[in-house]
Amino acid sequence: MDKFVIEGPRTLSGSLTVGGSKNTALPLMAAAVLAEGTTRVTNVPDLRDVHTLSKVIRVTGPDVTVRPDEHAIEINASTVDEPVAPYELVKKMRASFYMLGALVGRCGRARVSLPGGCAWGPRPVDLHIEGMKQFGAEIELDEGYVVAKATGGRLSGGTFRMEPSSVGATVNLLLGAVTARGGSKIENAAMEPDVVAFGEALKKMGAQIDGLGTRTIEIQGVDALTPIEVRNTPDRIEMGTFMILAAMAGEPGEPFEINNGNHEHLGQAFKDYFRGTGAETKYTDEGAVVTPPETVTPVSIRTETYPGFPTDLQAQWTVMLATADGEATVTDTIYDDRFKHVPELQRLGIDVTVDGNAATVRGGQPIKGAQVMSTDLRASVSLVMAGIVASGRTDVLRIYHLDRGYENLATKLRSAGANIERQQYDEFAEPERKA
Ligand code: EPZ
Repeated sequence: MDKFVIEGPRTLSGSLTVGGSKNTALPLMAAAVLAEGTTRVTNVPDLRDVHTLSKVIRVTGPDVTVRPDEHAIEINASTVDEPVAPYELVKKMRASFYMLGALVGRCGRARVSLPGGCAWGPRPVDLHIEGMKQFGAEIELDEGYVVAKATGGRLSGGTFRMEPSSVGATVNLLLGAVTARGGSKIENAAMEPDVVAFGEALKKMGAQIDGLGTRTIEIQGVDALTPIEVRNTPDRIEMGTFMILAAMAGEPGEPFEINNGNHEHLGQAFKDYFRGTGAETKYTDEGAVVTPPETVTPVSIRTETYPGFPTDLQAQWTVMLATADGEATVTDTIYDDRFKHVPELQRLGIDVTVDGNAATVRGGQPIKGAQVMSTDLRASVSLVMAGIVASGRTDVLRIYHLDRGYENLATKLRSAGANIERQQYDEFAEPERKA
């Protein structure tokens, strides 16, 4: 198993470059299944989740060629003859559940494993299933699989209002509705930039969709879609992660560049909260230039669906608050229990406590290196950020969680001045006796 060994504290300087978006690449890959022929997606990050979805798509029939050197992927979906997404793969990554919409949209039927549990509590897919039913699918559960069938091989179409608004359900329903016999409407739809970029790609493939980026999306089904070449968006969560890291670990007063990002995708709420920290920020066509403050000003945040503050940045914000002079709170309104990083941050001497869906951080305490455990993607990057400003050595264990969503993180951070190294370790090795 791999871990990161980090020596701190280190002050970062220079720049960091943002890669392609994981959460846009995955729906773009699922969309490729809808069209006969080869779809090519560029600016695709070389991540474990991309490889997992490639495997899921492959077992349903298409040829999938991943070109990590070119950050591109080609999906030849001329053949989709096995509309089954197996548990062995789906259990590794929830977004594999996008195959429900993709296979129903392409084949009129699907057998897709339920995704199962997640590190931070229940993440049901009831909205995906209910929406599919409203659009005309017959659905039953069989041995942990969702078995869906569209009468006559195509969904009829329909109207579905989701509560709460869900990124994944919006993606799945779009995948099914674009080839339905009739029209469909998704109410309280997700407005996240990932969903909009994915929807725009479907339109480029020939789909008829109105209202992307609004709460009401209307789709008129078409008989077939055509393959395309499409460029994936930059990763807005990686961009936000790097901006927060610059504010908390950059040289005060020295501009730090975040390149290759699209600041529009951060959402206004993030920008407003970030301004309050005292980190002067210039947004450019290239990304952002952050000038760190002497000391971060503590700003409390509340996560919301886009354009609100992304839940995928709350763990990173929590760590930044540990370097601030004062107290602030992080409230997550999307997930009640996304605080698995908190006990690990406490191991580093950070004064943080959780009450319900809110974590309160009292900043300014000395942060001291220790061994800490990754639990999920965003929690683990927050531990790496803490390790960079902590005094002494921090070992971040089980970084396979990080490999799911951050490409070449150690190389990137080293280029900005961090002392971080990937090492192998034996999770079950007996600790050596000191005496
Ligand atoms: C997407 O997950 C992202 N994943 C998540 O990022 C992100 O945290 C989340 O959106 C919210 O922004 C990908 O894009 C691959 P949701 P998703 O459906 O689609 C509830 C990361 O770190 N809900 O919008 O699974 C759900 O429990 C990942 O990159 C239902 O109740 O999130 C949650 O409270 C982690 N029933 C809320 O809706 C459903 O059927 C929002 O979830 C579906 C969702």
